[in-house]
Amino acid sequence: MSLKLNTVTVIGSGTMGNGISHVFAQHGFNVRMMDINQGALDKALVTIGKNMDRLVAKGSITEQLKQESMARISTYTNMEEAVKESDLVVEAATENIELKLNIFRQLDQFSPSNCILASNTSSISLTRIASVTKRPGKVIGMHFMNPVPVMKLVEIINGYGTDAEVTETIYKLSEQLGKVPCVVNDYPGFISNRILMPMINESVLALQEGVAGVQEIDTIMKLGMAHPMGPLQLADFIGLDTCYSIMHVLHMGFGNQKYAPATLLANMVQAGYLGVKSGEGFYKYTPGSKELVVSSRFASREWK
Ligand code: CAA
Repeated sequence: MSLKLNTVTVIGSGTMGNGISHVFAQHGFNVRMMDINQGALDKALVTIGKNMDRLVAKGSITEQLKQESMARISTYTNMEEAVKESDLVVEAATENIELKLNIFRQLDQFSPSNCILASNTSSISLTRIASVTKRPGKVIGMHFMNPVPVMKLVEIINGYGTDAEVTETIYKLSEQLGKVPCVVNDYPGFISNRILMPMINESVLALQEGVAGVQEIDTIMKLGMAHPMGPLQLADFIGLDTCYSIMHVLHMGFGNQKYAPATLLANMVQAGYLGVKSGEGFYKYTPGSKELVVSSRFASREWK
């Protein structure tokens, strides 16, 4: 039997946090969006409003549903206030293990004892996260994909001790959100990033070795394999720091050299070339422009 959920707290209001808040609010849930920074919360509300406007413009939702959904989102900077009446918490803070463990200790302390604690982690062990709480049966992974309002998948990750009833609840909830859930077990990178990140890392290695340029690598994967974005553009979209840290988790977790992050990836992260969020990665991004321009560091040869 699955459990009834009405009030959902989302921890973190960055790209993933605001996307997750958007989707819950649009599907009738009361959302409490929590961040330590009120400025980040204000910015997230503007982003959610703009993303809902896109859906209104396409006729996917009505203006009335947008207004009702926005009214269902409240913001908090205090953790205790944000979670004390919640049925579910979805943590979407920065991908840093110490930070997440600290957040889960507080969630365990301040949320009702029957509240489910989910993490949107893309690679950190759910079993490890659950171990700092007194309710490991109620800790689960709920891994949304970016952009959350668009991408259909929710990868559900069972920790070693996750209760079957909690998995069933999160499965049904994901369907209620219009998503397609897939349940996997707690191994490094789960399924999504165990497969996606080595592909991205391999494309960085191919670039590093001079096998082909940025444009060629991305075009081959876009047109040859029908990927919506090439792997290097996708790496920029995800953030090169995130890609690097997930490769590190795979490398440490499996102890296999085949997962070692590419040196070029490491260098770009060290130098602050993180992709879209820093303005440059494999491509250079100009605010307001949708044109995809390869970074001058990787300028292609002219054949024409
Ligand atoms: N909110 C609402 N709608 C949005 C949106 C958002 N944040 N972002 C894009 N859209 C909508 C647009 O309105 C547009 O709708 P229509 O086609 O109906 O008009 C549609 O999505 C496509 O957007 P664009 O026309 O702007 O651009 P596009 O066609 O290039 O698509 C994309 C953009 C959906 C991001 C597409 O390029 C894509 O699917 N890329 C791959 C995304 C991906 O792989 N995500 C997973 C990353 S990995 C991850 O998240 C997890 C991890 O652990 C690392």
